[in-house]
Amino acid sequence: MSKILVTGGAGFIGSHTVVELHQAGHDVVVIDNLSNSNKVSLQRVSKITGKEVPFYQVDIRDRKGLEEVMAVHKFDACIHFAGLKAVGESVAKPWEYYENNISGTLVLLDVLRQHNCKNIIFSSSATVYGDPAQIPITEQCPKGQCTNPYGWTKSMLEQVLMDIQKADPEWNVVLLRYFNPVGAHKSGTIGENPNGIPNNLMPYITQVAVGKRAELGVFGNDYDTPDGTGVRDYIHVVDLARGHVCAIKALERKCGLAIYNLGTGHGYSVLDMVNAFVKVNDVKVPYSIKPRRAGDIATCYSDPAKAEKELGWKAEYGIDEMVRDSWNWQRQNPEGYPEN
Ligand code: NAD
Ligand code: WQD
Repeated sequence: MSKILVTGGAGFIGSHTVVELHQAGHDVVVIDNLSNSNKVSLQRVSKITGKEVPFYQVDIRDRKGLEEVMAVHKFDACIHFAGLKAVGESVAKPWEYYENNISGTLVLLDVLRQHNCKNIIFSSSATVYGDPAQIPITEQCPKGQCTNPYGWTKSMLEQVLMDIQKADPEWNVVLLRYFNPVGAHKSGTIGENPNGIPNNLMPYITQVAVGKRAELGVFGNDYDTPDGTGVRDYIHVVDLARGHVCAIKALERKCGLAIYNLGTGHGYSVLDMVNAFVKVNDVKVPYSIKPRRAGDIATCYSDPAKAEKELGWKAEYGIDEMVRDSWNWQRQNPEGYPEN
């Protein structure tokens, strides 16, 4: 059992990961500035696991705030989710994204090392591969040109973490490159709760199904893919969360630097997702074909073999569970979390 600091733990992936960490017997403390989340998510985590979640509303750029938390708690490891993640917004507000994600992580890393916590798992993204040189994408695939400042923050922070680990081998750094997280905890009590118009496919589909939006726009049907729509590696958020529990064991084994794709290895098109959602949930999702979205690539899916071999982790859930659990959350929470 370890004591783990989870930054951004009130968010979508963070809250699901706290559930899995509790269930694996770890102690967890969450910090989050709540810029894109709601404390209610953590109350619901406690309901699921029967364990309190100590929470501090602290910004990772706030050195004093971080030090106050670390004066009270001694951490074995940090799982670092905190960051801004909206691709389009990052194009409009690059300074805000670089400042929040990069400055914030630099402050966090400094405070962690001063408190002798040199074990970190970082939320990276398949976006660092750019337009990938090969499909399926292995970790050997070279990083590419990102198409937006958000993606660059992930790519640059990977470099920062690699350099820090190289200079001081006491650090153990796990970079987890997530593919496309969807789904929700099976209870339907925690899930993805985007502000405003969703950027991502699955929350858009669920909001159409629940009647909040009239129809889905499918961004392009002339890609070089089986049905012409974009193909992605969707992964159930509970599988993704369990990947972090396995990565803790890698830190405990003193892995140095380790990089893993977290995906299923299967590519599904936009229309595959819509059709599965309609079939499994017996609901209507009207859609129409729109022009391609700037910056999108045709196909992106992982080779997840390295995570299976080295972490003993493999995604268990398929497309049916993904669409079922996304809908179960949205149906029970049509307006997302209530204000706290
Ligand atoms: P999310 O927005 O739900 O969670 C991020 C959390 O970080 C939010 O609760 C937000 O309030 C908090 N936060 C942001 N800036 C902060 C700051 N300066 N100080 C403290 N807290 C701050 O997003 P998510 O989908 O759960 O993503 C978690 C992480 O995974 C992010 O780093 C994201 O970039 C990365 N990621 C997400 C996806 C995806 O598609 N959801 C894919 C790849 C990588
Ligand atoms: C998936 C597919 C769209 C919305 C993004 C980030 C990436 C990572 C995951 C954080 C594409 C199509 C979408 C819609 C649509 N995030 N689509 N209509 O673009 O693969 O990845 O989220 O790290 O960095 O770029 O995910 O869910 O936005 O799109 O047709 O309303 O659905 O064109 O083919 P994407 P997405």
